[in-house]
Amino acid sequence: MRGMAVSPKGEIEYGEVFTRRWVVDTILDLVGYTADRDLAATTLVEPSVGSGAFLGPVVDRLTASAAARGVPLESLTGAIRGYDLQRSHVETSRALVVERLTATGGDEATARMLAESWLHVGDFLLDDTDLLSLGEALSAGTSVSKDSPADFVVGNPPYIRFDDLDRATVAAYRAKYPTMVGRSDIYVGFFERSLAMLKPSGMLGFICADRWMRNAYGAKLRGLIAKRYAVDTLWQMHDVDAFHAEVSAYPAITVLANRPQGSVTVLDTKATFGAPGAKQAVAFVRSGEDEAEGSGWKGARLASWFEGEDLWPAGGPDRIRLLEYLQEHFPVLEQTGGTTKISIGVATGADKAYVVAPDADVEPDRLLPIVMADDIRSGVLTPPKKVLINPWDETGALVNLTDYPRMEKALSSHEDVRKRFVARRNPAAWHRTIDRVYPGLAKRPKLLLQDMKAQITPVYEPGGYYPHHNLYYIVSTGWDLEVLGGLLLSRIAETFIEAFGVKMRGGTLRFQAQYLRKIRVPAPESISDDVQGQLRAAFRTRDRDAATRAAEAAYGLPEGEL
Ligand SMILES: C[S@@+](CC[C@H](N)C(=O)[O-])C[C@H]1O[C@@H](n2cnc3c(N)ncnc32)[C@H](O)[C@@H]1O
Repeated sequence: MRGMAVSPKGEIEYGEVFTRRWVVDTILDLVGYTADRDLAATTLVEPSVGSGAFLGPVVDRLTASAAARGVPLESLTGAIRGYDLQRSHVETSRALVVERLTATGGDEATARMLAESWLHVGDFLLDDTDLLSLGEALSAGTSVSKDSPADFVVGNPPYIRFDDLDRATVAAYRAKYPTMVGRSDIYVGFFERSLAMLKPSGMLGFICADRWMRNAYGAKLRGLIAKRYAVDTLWQMHDVDAFHAEVSAYPAITVLANRPQGSVTVLDTKATFGAPGAKQAVAFVRSGEDEAEGSGWKGARLASWFEGEDLWPAGGPDRIRLLEYLQEHFPVLEQTGGTTKISIGVATGADKAYVVAPDADVEPDRLLPIVMADDIRSGVLTPPKKVLINPWDETGALVNLTDYPRMEKALSSHEDVRKRFVARRNPAAWHRTIDRVYPGLAKRPKLLLQDMKAQITPVYEPGGYYPHHNLYYIVSTGWDLEVLGGLLLSRIAETFIEAFGVKMRGGTLRFQAQYLRKIRVPAPESISDDVQGQLRAAFRTRDRDAATRAAEAAYGLPEGEL
């Protein structure tokens, strides 16, 4: 079953979605595959041809370029290489190629010869020999690397999620492609192999899901691009009708180049974006202008791109430009205000057993007041009503059950407690919560943030409660937490979460620690007393606009920027 993805239900998954013509033309224009150039002297690779959405326009441009230069068709065998895992797709694409070539005056025999030599059945990620040269290589007794250089790689690679790929295939892919880490989708490998094929100054243009730009499994690919290649232009196409089918993934036109990083254009588009807007946008990308907008799009040119494995932001060009500025000029939150820490509350693994009413029959020194998501849902702290049965002592060690018979009885009465993985792994410590309870944390003042809210809403807890698992908390030795709360309430902080975080359907944001850690803030000592006062006041009255104005002053941004 090499090279195929078989879903757990036993269906073969090929990740098929076919691309609209105007999107194909746009990508070909962006990578510079245009008939005014001598395309006969170049090589273009299409890694997964499907029914030929890219090939048709590619052949048209190639034959127009060749005709204008008097280049005979039969000399074009090296101009295109296309692959697909499915024989039926390769057959369809070959028929399309023959039709296109004969329509422009080519003879049938030459058209068939080219279709045969251009298109091959194979797994783009696994086949080691260049199928184009296979015949020659076999007769010469040598093998030819498939990674012989390409001037262009274009297409719409398959999207097949990690869970839908069979294990043996995943193992074979991972052995060859170091960027395919974590739960990476197959398209990550398509990027890596395609980049490796590019000649110096060669261009890659894909329409592809953009998840890898902002998640853990994309880290190695982002790192590879930052180190060895360049981002040329990125078009976010979240609501655009780009395919002949509905897709659940958010696509982006992604153009990368085999050259050092220079300036980058970023575009955001609306649902109305289509062929006319795309033509204007291509002109903007080529123009060298700093910003422009047109029919269903808005674009900006940035001087450089994000470095290392850093997440790439989502959103409009203004937002990305602002973020680039803030990333360059301000430290991340955890590097400010003495020791500042962002973390998540305690997971017990069995809340029914551990999170109880204050009158539970347990030794009183084992009961710790706990604050839960419900207690801050309204945007302020309402008096928490529950307590945590805390099996950890003041030094952070697990207490001895013989000293706490009432606690032992209470926990034992819930079967779930001993069934938890942590309990089975170490039966002597069966009474532990999954996470340790940090001594002293309950007493400290903190800012609490609830996951899955429409807007970032920090809540002040003056000390006394331990945070529960679905709350994030911030503690700091150097920040006045109400001043920090004002900054986090502002739309500047929210910009970070929106750009790097995951937005669920219906607009709910996920406030995981990894996204909160991306927020950059001015150091508290750099904020004047006056502005600190404004931030504190805005936080106390939960006035997001006032917080945003005060935050602009704290960051030194022009008033009304957000
Ligand atoms: C998203 S479709 C895109 C087709 C075409 N490029 C387009 O834009 O319309 C992806 C194609 O990838 C093919 N495919 C899936 N896994 C592949 C692999 N490992 N190697 C080559 N092709 C593959 C599928 O058969 C399917 O035709």
